[in-house]
Amino acid sequence: MKRQIVVTVGIVVAVLAGKVCCAQTVPPGKKVFESRCAVCHMPQATGVPGIFPHLADSIGRYLSVKGGRAYLAHVPCFGLTGPIKSHGEEIDNTMPALDFLSNEELAGALTYVLTTFNAKLLPENFKPYTAAEIKADRAHHMNMEAVHAEREKLIARLAKRQTSSRTGPSSRRAVKAPGRPI
Ligand code: HEC
Repeated sequence: MKRQIVVTVGIVVAVLAGKVCCAQTVPPGKKVFESRCAVCHMPQATGVPGIFPHLADSIGRYLSVKGGRAYLAHVPCFGLTGPIKSHGEEIDNTMPALDFLSNEELAGALTYVLTTFNAKLLPENFKPYTAAEIKADRAHHMNMEAVHAEREKLIARLAKRQTSSRTGPSSRRAVKAPGRPI
């Protein structure tokens, strides 16, 4: 009997320790990204050439232009369709809206893919997405085509920024993230 109690207490302690350990070490959003996004974008966010875009070392750039942060939230909320150039690849596919995911899950997945796979491109003042922010971003419904048009505007802004950073006074971010188009 005594032995049984000791074993039971041991198991309870081990389970609790496991919870504490994992809640601290697993970045929030990793689970959502791996179960909901990685099926297409792959666990390291490297995509599938010509089919699913590479998100690693790519989408962080949007955060350096106005509207980029909201665009990244709009993609999983409303979907995206139409031709895009991503990480040097041409893709013409459709991402369905993942609107069944909660605000918290989307905030976690976006923050995870940005902080884990786009760390070099993040602005210094980057703040994690919050559930309240996603709620506000998804409040005004857009269709997938409108999200695509939003992307086009951002690409034009990024191109303008790159050109002006080459000709004009250098912007710190353009220097930090040179070269390759999104
Ligand atoms: C069923 C496959 C699929 C799933 C699941 C999926 N995506 Fe996508 N994603 C795509 C496709 C396809 C595109 C490109 C659409 C196009 O060609 O217009 C895309 C594009 C994107 C883009 C825009 C990239 C850019 O360069 O503008 C982001 C950001 C993104 N996905 C994030 C996510 C996140 C975050 C999740 C999970 C919450 C997710 N995706 C889940 C297929 C998927």
